[in-house]
Amino acid sequence: MTTVRPDFVIEQNWRGYSQEEHAIWRLLFERQQRLLVGRACREYLAGLDGLDVAASGIPDFRRLSGILDRATGWQIVAVPGLVPDDVFFAHLARRRFPSTCFIRRRDQLDYLQKPDIFHDICGHVPLLMNPVFADYLQAYGEGGLKALGLGHLQRLARLYWYTVEFGLIATAEGLRIYGSGILSSAGESVYCLDDPRPTRLRFDLRRIMRTRYRIDDFQELYFVIDNFQQLFDATRPDFAPIYQEIAVLPDLQPTARIDRDREFVDGRRKKIGPHISAAQV
Ligand code: PHE
Ligand code: FE
Repeated sequence: MTTVRPDFVIEQNWRGYSQEEHAIWRLLFERQQRLLVGRACREYLAGLDGLDVAASGIPDFRRLSGILDRATGWQIVAVPGLVPDDVFFAHLARRRFPSTCFIRRRDQLDYLQKPDIFHDICGHVPLLMNPVFADYLQAYGEGGLKALGLGHLQRLARLYWYTVEFGLIATAEGLRIYGSGILSSAGESVYCLDDPRPTRLRFDLRRIMRTRYRIDDFQELYFVIDNFQQLFDATRPDFAPIYQEIAVLPDLQPTARIDRDREFVDGRRKKIGPHISAAQV
């Protein structure tokens, strides 16, 4: 029985992974590598490069933490699964990213509701090599502890969902992905950019904090930022009055539209039918 410390940190036990587990990692990694060129934002691809989480197998957190620490002062800590909110935020506030250690099974390659090591490491960690994003996630951790105290966690959680997990970014080359929930999913990496069904709105802090989300299927709504500095600056103000302001407004479904919505139109991207993109998966 592994002992769980009050901060929920455990040993990754890197030597304990089986050949099959390393093989699943390689499969997922190679598939996303192919898909993400031209889809992931350049900050993500640069981070992935710098971390050297090659296709060789499940990485050792100690090695990754060393590289990450030298780049932005972040570390990876192993946790057994989802941890209590206050524990999660406290880690982020100290620039420690809690990562699960287990990898999905071969029959779950395409969809998993719970985070696994592939999502946590390949989805989240590369962007932590970027100084602005690294500061954003630490500020989010501090904001999380504050929101817990104020009783507005649900609103702050939506910000995490629509940025850290499912965010899109407008670049000179076209729309790109930075959300880790998308980056670790083969199907959604294609769908979020190419499929005509989901709505893509320009980033709007208050709008995001009012909008519910679904966890059981591809998103029906994405929010698009212009750059990480915009995200960092927009979230810098004290949220206490903003929580008050939106507390009186109704929550919105992902399919709802309101007057202030600004749709993102990507003039640069060629229209590709979903059937064509699906063939690349
Ligand atoms: N500025 C926010 C607050 O006062 C904290 C925060 C920063 C939250 C970045 C999310 C992201 O609560
Ligand atoms: Fe995640």
